[in-house]
This record gives sequence, structure tokens and C-alpha cells, in this order.
Amino acid sequence: MLLRFLLQVLKVAGNMKKSFYITTAIDYANGSPHLGHAYEKVLTDVIARHRRLLGAEVYFLTGLDEHGQKVQQTARTRNVTPQELCDAVAEDFQGLCLKLGVSNNDYIRTTQERHKKVVCELLQRLYDKGEIYSATYSGYYSPRSEQFLNERDKIDGKWPAEFGEVQEITETNYFFKLSAYQGWLIEYLKANEAFIFPAFRAKQVLEFLKEPLNDLCISRPRERLEWGIPLPFDAGYVTYVWFDALVNYISAIGYGTEMFDKHWPADFHVIGKDILLPPHAVYWPIMLKALDIPLPKSLLVHGWWQMRGEKMSKSTGNSVNPLALVDTFGVDAFRYFLIREMNVGQDSDFSQDQFLTRYNSDLGNDLGNLVSRLLNMGHRYADGKVPLASVDGEPEITLKKLWEDTHKVVLENYASLAFHRGLELTFMFVKGINAYAEKRAPWKLAKSQSPQDKELLDTSLATMAESLRLSSVLLLAVMPQIAERIHVLLGQKVPSRWDSQSLAWGDSLVGSPLGEKVILFPRPQEEETPAPKG
Ligand code: MSP
Repeated sequence: MLLRFLLQVLKVAGNMKKSFYITTAIDYANGSPHLGHAYEKVLTDVIARHRRLLGAEVYFLTGLDEHGQKVQQTARTRNVTPQELCDAVAEDFQGLCLKLGVSNNDYIRTTQERHKKVVCELLQRLYDKGEIYSATYSGYYSPRSEQFLNERDKIDGKWPAEFGEVQEITETNYFFKLSAYQGWLIEYLKANEAFIFPAFRAKQVLEFLKEPLNDLCISRPRERLEWGIPLPFDAGYVTYVWFDALVNYISAIGYGTEMFDKHWPADFHVIGKDILLPPHAVYWPIMLKALDIPLPKSLLVHGWWQMRGEKMSKSTGNSVNPLALVDTFGVDAFRYFLIREMNVGQDSDFSQDQFLTRYNSDLGNDLGNLVSRLLNMGHRYADGKVPLASVDGEPEITLKKLWEDTHKVVLENYASLAFHRGLELTFMFVKGINAYAEKRAPWKLAKSQSPQDKELLDTSLATMAESLRLSSVLLLAVMPQIAERIHVLLGQKVPSRWDSQSLAWGDSLVGSPLGEKVILFPRPQEEETPAPKG
């Protein structure tokens, strides 16, 4: 009896191991996906895969932000219901996730019952605690653009024509007592330096908090906005924007259930710099504090993809369609480019030329050709199997040392979110393998009849195979499909962990059957790719 009880306790304790919980922002449902959305998902996916490789039980959430004025308007202009519009957009965005190889565990849509239920529960609790109150205010309202305007919207003292006829109206709404928590938030941020990454963003938040906070208007009257979640304590209103959207992070993991305790607090909310202030750095922590819910561990704030220095977005008409790039160059080339080019936290400029350079040089020449050469030579000179390395000469020792020096630093860089640098170093190692191949020149050794040269030939092919396997292990989080293909071509199963086995230089490949020669990164629109040397 006692034993059964103990086993039960152990099982519960085992099941309750905290997951590594990571989220992206949820995308607005009023547009189609562009490179910025794709980047955030790929970055989050790289972190998720990286953590899985380190042995964590990862829970990865992404989703769609479906309520609001813009969605209502767009649906009206397209002559569909808002729900129909959201269903179509959800299909697009979920299609993007699939196409990008994003390994999310769940996809939350804010029109789902599970979400609406939690939003209502939280609103009611805050209302009952006196944290939400109603107030009446006057302001200038543009029925055409369906928004309140400020004096600063005027041009030369007049309302611009795009706003149509502007009316002064008086309206009653519900407000959340944000200002009461300002002092607490400042202290919290000062005491928890790791809460916002990169650190310079935390400084911006503290700077922002030097000005007094206003309470947050959390509602819109139903007659102005239909497409939202009705307030549980006043059905004449719906919740407005952030009170709805931010709650996704806890509604998706079953707030109030055992599953919630397993995942919360989130380890990372990955967001773009435009939604740090005030929503994620001010509203969200204060909402949670007012509800006695622990805060997420960290906000990871990435920069923007720009085009000639301007933020890429649908409204400025300079967005890049990520799906077209994936279709032409393959998903892992696309993922590689995004992660290699963006220093997490900084902005980066997108250019087709830079994409092509990375594709042709790093991927096509350095990695792709190396794989083709090895497979080609393996079939020609070693019966299509990885031979034994029996010589440990200077070139082998140099390459092994390069591996030892490189892979540890790569892992350190990954751990500190410097993925761009981790990739740079990984590809320096790939260059090192190419340099090794040039030095040993197995295609020349193959012409010799001497037994010593045969040993050297075998050694060079085995060394190239083992070092390729190791580089592809380092690429698992960023280029999972290519890493798996390389493993399969080397007759191996892809490892699920980064551990002393998968990362150690060894001879596990000996005798492994090699796949047929392939071109991993074909040049687009070229019929014939020149045969690689070897
Ligand atoms: N719906 C809100 C987020 C609610 S989270 C509780 C929203 N949606 S969005 O569709 O406009 O943006 C989604 C994410 O994409 C945001 O993190 C945003 O920063 C990011 N990006 C949008 N354009 C971007 C770039 N050009 N570059 C990089 N990421 C940017 O905000």
C-alpha cells in the first residue's frame, strides 16, 4: 500500500517536471505572412530545437491574434464574416509554420473557446478585486478610421482628409489600474536584469517608466467594435487588443489546470521590438502581478528585418514573401540565411543579393560540394562505404583540433543566443574540411598503386565523412532537414541529443553505406550544375 502510494507520488513528481516553455507573438489576422513573421517563428524554432537537443522537454506555442477593428473592417470590405476571414488567414499562417519546419506543439487562435473562457475569467477576477473601473471621457473620434485622434494628428491645425468628418464625442469605457503598479514594475525590472534580453532594451523600458503611466483602456463599446470578446461584467462592451491578445500565453496551456503548472512560467516570450513597449514590458507584467500569477522568466526582443533601412511590412509595400524564397531555395537555406544574417536583438537589412551570396557560397560551394565530392569519391574509390582511418598525420590532427576548438565555442554561442556567430564558426569548420580535402587530395591518391597511398586515401575519405557528420550535428537546430539528409547519406540515423556521443570525433561511420551523389543546394534555374571536383 505504502509502496503504491510512494510510486504514485514519484510518478506525479516525474510528470510535473517543468517544461521549457517558449512562445512567439501571435500574428494579427488582418494580413498575410511576410519575412518578419517567418523570422520570429524560425528563431523561436531554433531555440526550441536547441533546447530539445540539450535534453529539455520543450513546449512551443505560436498562434493568431484574431479580434479587433482591422479584422472587422477587412472582412467587411471582402464581404465575408470576420470568422471566415480569420479561418482563411489561420490556414495561411499555419501553412507557413509547416513550410518553415517549425516544431510548435500548439497553435492558439484567440477566437477559440479555450482562450475566450480564460480571458473572461481573468477580467472578472480583476473587476471583482477593484482593479478595473469604468470612466467617462471626451475626445475627437473619426468614424471613418474608427479611432480616437490626438491633437498631434492634426496637420497645419486641421484634421487630414483621410479621417473624414471628425466628431467630439463622450464615451464611457473600462480601465485597468496600470498606474498603481508603476513603482512595483520599476523595482522588479531593476532587481531582475535577465527579464529583458538584450539588456539595452531593459534600459529603454526603465527610461519609458520615468514618465507617469496612464491607466489602460481595455474596452470598446459594442456599437463601435463587434469583433471581440464581450466583457463578462458588461455585455455592452468587448475587450480591446492587449487584454485579449496577451492572455494567449496562459490560455493555451490551460490556465488553472495541471498542464499550466507544468509549463508556466514561460522561459521566453519571443517578440519583435515594436511590441515590447508598452504591451509586453508594462501591460503584461502588471496584469500578471495584479492576478497573482508569476511573471515569465524572460522577454527575448528581436529586431526588424528591413529593406533599405525601412521596416519590412505589408503596409509599406516592401515585404518579402517568405514562401517564394522557400519554394526556390528550400526551407533550410532560408532558415540558414535568416539566422546567419541576423544578430538576435539587432535589425538586419534584407537583400536578394546577400541571400544569393550566402546560398551559393556557404551552402552551395562549401557544404553542398563537399557532400557531393565525398559521396562521389566514396563510390569510386571505397565501394560506397566509409573506410577506416588508419593514419593520424598532420592534416588529420589539425582538423581534429579545429573540431575540438570550434564545437565548444559554437555551443557556447548558441547558449548565449548568438546563433549567427555559432553558424559562422560551424562554416569555418566546413571550410576547414575543404582545406583538409585539398591537402590530402584523395583524387590524386586514388591514382597511385602503393599500399601507403591506399591507406591515406581511406583515411582521407573517412576523415571527411566523420567531420561532415559532426558539422551536420551542429546544424541540427538551424537546418534540421539538411542535417538529417547528410546523416542519411552517411548511412546514419540523426541523433536526438547533443551529447558526448553525437559530438565526439570517433569511428562510428566505418562500414556505413554511402548514399548516391546528390546536389544539396542546386543553383536555381540552372539545368546543369558543373560536376564538383573529385
Ligand atoms: N498581434 C500582435 C502581437 C500580439 S502578442 C500577444 C502583433 N502582430 S503582428 O502580426 O503585427 O506581428 C507579429 C510579430 O512579428 C511581432 O513580434 C512583430 O514584431 C514581428 N514582426 C513584424 N514585422 C517585422 C519585421 N519586419 N521584422 C521582424 N519582425 C517583425 O504585433
